Amino acid sequence: MSAPRLRLGVNIDHIATVRNARGGALPDPVRGALLAIESGADGITAHLREDRRHIRDEDIRRLMAIISKPLNFEMAATEEMVGIALATKPHAACLVPEKRTERTTEGGLDVIGGHDHIREATTRLKAAGIRVSLFIEPSIAALEAARSIGAPVVELHTGAWCEAVMEGSNDAPREFERIQLAATKAAALGIECHAGHGLDYETARIIAALPQVVELNIGHFLMGEALFVGLPEAIRTMREAMNEGRNGGLGGA
Ligand code: PXP
Repeated sequence: MSAPRLRLGVNIDHIATVRNARGGALPDPVRGALLAIESGADGITAHLREDRRHIRDEDIRRLMAIISKPLNFEMAATEEMVGIALATKPHAACLVPEKRTERTTEGGLDVIGGHDHIREATTRLKAAGIRVSLFIEPSIAALEAARSIGAPVVELHTGAWCEAVMEGSNDAPREFERIQLAATKAAALGIECHAGHGLDYETARIIAALPQVVELNIGHFLMGEALFVGLPEAIRTMREAMNEGRNGGLGGA
């Protein structure tokens, strides 16, 4: 049986990071979202952080009004963000941990310690017809907690593996095995499996070979590449890497 098509979600947060470095309106993350879609993105991800360090409320409103592909709204499971999601009704909401002092999302959600709180947010979002995913560590315990919370989707945190690959660390194979086992477990539990954080062309190609993974969410690397080759070219190259990984090195659509 062939693996399902692997979707590419493009995270546009760092277009807003560059905009906010100077204030004003440029570069416009919504323009980036439109260009990403034109270049082959299957969806757009944007993280409205509590401190609004990159994406702002107005960006979310404009994305909902303008883009033609699904919006994956990344959010902390706070009362404020749940309220915004319920009012906005994006296609999907990805619940992530958030600390004010972190540079990026460090580690997955504490789905065991925060189980009841996350379940309440998940239940409210699901009742509004929003597809909820939980950003979790690739561990069996986290997957079992995600199932008990009632999440239809998980996104496996690939950050530790990508970092190990980048550093040439001996931990890389073990980290990849954790992802592989977690993806298999997600499928066994009937939970849709996504993955993301820190992916580049090489790690995306490798993870694309896991047939249980149906979506990758990628931001920082693509925006960095876009500075040198342009966003359309970066997305096309990423799509090719994903297709190659999916098709066992054969490339193609
Ligand atoms: N998925 C989730 C849940 C994230 O929090 C992030 C980072 O915002 C990403 C994917 C994208 O990670 P990166 O920007 O490292 O590609």
